[in-house]
Amino acid sequence: GGSPAGPEAAGQVLVASNRGPVSYALGADGSLTAKRGGGGLVSGLSALEPGTGTWVCAALGDGDRAAAGRRPGGRLDPADTGGQVVRMLDIPPDTFDAAYNGIANSVLWFVHHLLYQTPFEPVFDAGFEEQWEHYEAYNAAFADALAAEAAPGAAVLVQDYHLSLVPGLLRERRPDLRVGHFSHTPWAPPELFRVLPDAVARRVLLGILGADRAAFLTERWARAFADCCADLLGAEVNGWEVTHEGRTTRLGVHGLGSDAAFLRDRAFRPDVDERLAALREQVGDVRTIVRVDRTELSKNIVRGLLAFRRLLTDRPRWRGQVTHIAFAYPSRQDLAVYREYTAEVSRVAEEINAAFGTEGWTPVVLHVKDDFARSLAAYRMADVALVNPIRDGMNLVAKEVPVVSERGCALVLSREAGAAAELGEDALLVNPYDIAGTAQALHLALTMDVDERDRRTKRLSAAATALPPKTWFLEQLTALGAPPAGAA
Ligand code: G6P
Repeated sequence: GGSPAGPEAAGQVLVASNRGPVSYALGADGSLTAKRGGGGLVSGLSALEPGTGTWVCAALGDGDRAAAGRRPGGRLDPADTGGQVVRMLDIPPDTFDAAYNGIANSVLWFVHHLLYQTPFEPVFDAGFEEQWEHYEAYNAAFADALAAEAAPGAAVLVQDYHLSLVPGLLRERRPDLRVGHFSHTPWAPPELFRVLPDAVARRVLLGILGADRAAFLTERWARAFADCCADLLGAEVNGWEVTHEGRTTRLGVHGLGSDAAFLRDRAFRPDVDERLAALREQVGDVRTIVRVDRTELSKNIVRGLLAFRRLLTDRPRWRGQVTHIAFAYPSRQDLAVYREYTAEVSRVAEEINAAFGTEGWTPVVLHVKDDFARSLAAYRMADVALVNPIRDGMNLVAKEVPVVSERGCALVLSREAGAAAELGEDALLVNPYDIAGTAQALHLALTMDVDERDRRTKRLSAAATALPPKTWFLEQLTALGAPPAGAA
C-alpha cells in the first residue's frame, strides 16, 4: 500500500472495479501499449478535479501485470490514464481466474441474468468451494488496497458483482469511510438467488449491505435486491431502506444515460465517415437492421438472428430489401460457454445467408472485430436498431443509437432491459424469448412512417441522455453525503 493522501484530499473519491480505465498489450520486445477504455465510469470520474480521484482495479492480463509490476504500488503512468491516479492490483493468476471467470462470470453473472439453469447445472461441491475462497481473497485484496489508499472520511464507490464483498470488508477495516456499491447488472429475484448455497447467498447480500448506499440502474433491480434481503436474511425493508442487525443501508437508483456531447462529436469524425462509406458499399441500397453487442449469452444474439430469419420467411417482400448488420464482439473467451456461443452466432448467420442470400444481396453482415468507429457508423445508418437481451442492467446501445442516428431509427427493445423503463414509450418493446413477436416488431419498425420515426427518435434521444455519465457519478457522491469539492 502507498501513503494515504494527506488532509488536502478531504473530498477524496475512490473508485473500485475489476476492469479499470486502461489496459496494456505486451509486445514481443517487452514494450507496453496502453489502450484507454470508454464507458460511463471513465467519463463519470472525469467530472472530478484532477488529484481528487483514485481508481483501484485488477491487472487483467500479461500486459497489465507487466505495467503494474514496473511501477511502485501498481500506480500507473498518469500519461496512460488521462491524469487520474490508477492503481492496478496484481492478483495471483489462479485467484483472479477463479474469482473472475469462476464465481463472478460463471455464477453471479448468470444468476442475475436468469441464465443460471440448464445447461449450466449448478453443482456446489469442492470445486465451487475452492473458487469461492479465491473470490473472498480477491475481494479482500481490493479492501486492503482501498483501506490503504483512503484519506479519513473519503468516499469509496465500489462497482459490480465482482466486488460484492468489498463494502462489508472495508467497513471492518475503515468504519470512517463513506461507501457506496453500484450494480451495473440486473438483480435476481429471490426464487433464483436462493439457488446459491445459503452461506454464499447471505455473504453476497451482507457484503453489499456493508455499504452506506447500494445503488442500481433501475427500480426493478433495487426492488429485487431488497426482496432478496428480506427473504434470505430476514432484513427489514422500509421503502428504500434495508435494516439488518441494527444497521441501515439506503437503496438508490441512478439510470446511467449516454453522453450526447461526446457521441455527437465522436460519431461525425472522418474515421467514422470512412467506415460508413465502406458499410454502405458492402450492403448496397437496402434498409438496415443494426445490432451491436459483446458476444454474450444474455444479449440474445442468436434469437435476434432467428427473428430476422422469421421475418424473411413470413414476409418475402423484405428479401433483397433489408440487411441485418450484426456486430458481435468476442467477450470472456476464457469460458467455454462463451466460445460456443460465439461459434453459434457465426453458424446461424451463415445458415441464413446460405438459405436466402442472392448474387446481389447478403442478408446478414456479421462483423466480430471490435471497432468503435464502425459501430458509430452503423448507428448513423440504421433504419432499425435491434436490442433484445434476455435481461440487461441498462443497455447503453439503446441509449446511443437514437443520439447519432442520421435519419431517425426505430428501436426494437427487449422489455427485460433496464433501458425499457425509460425508453418504453417510444421503442417497440418485445419479449426477448418470442421469435415470432420479435419478427413482427421488426416488420412494424421497418414500415414505420418516417415522420413518426423521426418524432420517436428525438424523444428517445432526449430520454437516453437525461442522466449523462458525469451527472450520474456526481449524483451518487451527493447522495452519499460526499459532494466533491470543485467538481468540474
Ligand atoms: C458488464 C459488467 C461490467 C463489465 C462488462 C464487460 O457490463 O457490468 O462490469 O466490465 O460487462 O465484461 P468484462 O468481463 O469484459 O469486463
